[in-house]
Amino acid sequence: MNDNLHQLRCIGCGERIPGADAQPDFRCAHCGELFEVEYPGWGQRRGNDRPNPGALKWLWRERRCSAESIDHSGVWRFRELLPILDSFGNAVTLSEGNTPLYPLLRVSKALGIDQLYAKHQGMNPTGSFKDTGMTAAMSVAKERGFEWVACASTGNTSASMAAYAARAGLRSLVLIPEGKIAWGKLSQAMDYGAVTCQLKADFDGCLSLLTQIVKEAPIYLLNSVNPYRLEGQKTPAFEIAEAFDWNVPDHLIVPGGNLGNSSALGKGFRELHELGLVARMPRISVIQAAGANPLVRSIAENHGSSLEPVEAHTRATAIRIGNPASWRKAARVIQETGGWCLDVTEAEIAIAKAEIGAEGLGCEPASAVTLAGLKKLCAQGKISSSETVVLVLTGHTLKDADYTIDFHRGTLLKDEEKAGLEATIEGLQRNAQVVEATAAAVLATLKGRAG
Ligand code: F0G
Repeated sequence: MNDNLHQLRCIGCGERIPGADAQPDFRCAHCGELFEVEYPGWGQRRGNDRPNPGALKWLWRERRCSAESIDHSGVWRFRELLPILDSFGNAVTLSEGNTPLYPLLRVSKALGIDQLYAKHQGMNPTGSFKDTGMTAAMSVAKERGFEWVACASTGNTSASMAAYAARAGLRSLVLIPEGKIAWGKLSQAMDYGAVTCQLKADFDGCLSLLTQIVKEAPIYLLNSVNPYRLEGQKTPAFEIAEAFDWNVPDHLIVPGGNLGNSSALGKGFRELHELGLVARMPRISVIQAAGANPLVRSIAENHGSSLEPVEAHTRATAIRIGNPASWRKAARVIQETGGWCLDVTEAEIAIAKAEIGAEGLGCEPASAVTLAGLKKLCAQGKISSSETVVLVLTGHTLKDADYTIDFHRGTLLKDEEKAGLEATIEGLQRNAQVVEATAAAVLATLKGRAG
């Protein structure tokens, strides 16, 4: 590893170690906290390793027209800001990143926000934001000579890990909570050849078991406790800043599960700011499902100084997590940027998801918490119409087709969950109809559907 350029710093006690010295569970040997990757050269203003902002912006744009496959990656295009490999020739890439930033036309009108965008991370090779982190950490696994990699997952990490392991020629082990992950995601892990174990445990139980396993066998842990995952996952911050010509949006809204993504995006914007590539950081807010809201509680009850795990329940299975590993990092991001941490109900998630679908974009339920959270923030007067807001949509709509179909058929939500929102929900439902195979019958279905 290129330890001259990077080291790991414990976010608890500040201990610094070479990258190769991390324990298999990526916890600090002294205080048990997580590490983050740090680049000491950047701190020395005139140091040789300190990147030059103007030259970097030019180089990153040029790479978009390059013939090199590594330059086609929206992660490795920014490789000067993630010098974690001895050789970039070891990068395992599926051309991840470079995802679209879509204006949300109807929703922005309805909410009275002029500049509202969705950064659609579901448009990655395996359909979720996990690919940006997986390319980074899988490359480290390959460079360090591991044969096996593993993760616990609510579905997307496992899909992504299985794909990247297959590309790297490594074997992969997946631990998932039985019956609690969407079929699309499970099918991906199978298709890409992972050894998939469905356990009678929730995500938190799967992760704690895997932590034991990696201490007993030479298997590389690829959950977001692995700090190299977050190095890849910080790069959408660079793409967003680049898309706004290096003027960051006012507000970024991110779903919160295990809380690696919000931590990573915060790190990305923090580094851009520290290196002088942007003038400030955006406000970063994290939204959780009401049934899986340990960070919301922690921030409300003790300003994020401690976190009490909860038993998690939500149909947004990707974020069905009660004991998030990266909560300290995420709490720091919210606090340093002046963001908020809120939760939203099952009905609010379902409505927001249908509204994102009606924009022609679609996303998975966990991603829709961002729009549901934005609506709450608007209702609380916390966002003004002149602000530029970006929602981070984390997963593709096809990941959880059952959820979508159940919503449109009217079988997703219980009556008590819908209370007071029935008319909104009915207005969004577009159930498929059984129609006689004649032109007249099909045309009759269009009556009353204008606009
Ligand atoms: N959105 C989607 C679609 C996810 O799959 C996840 C997490 C999140 C949001 C939350 O991100 O954990 O970084 O706060 N999925 C993980 C998995 C846990 O195993 O696929 P986070």
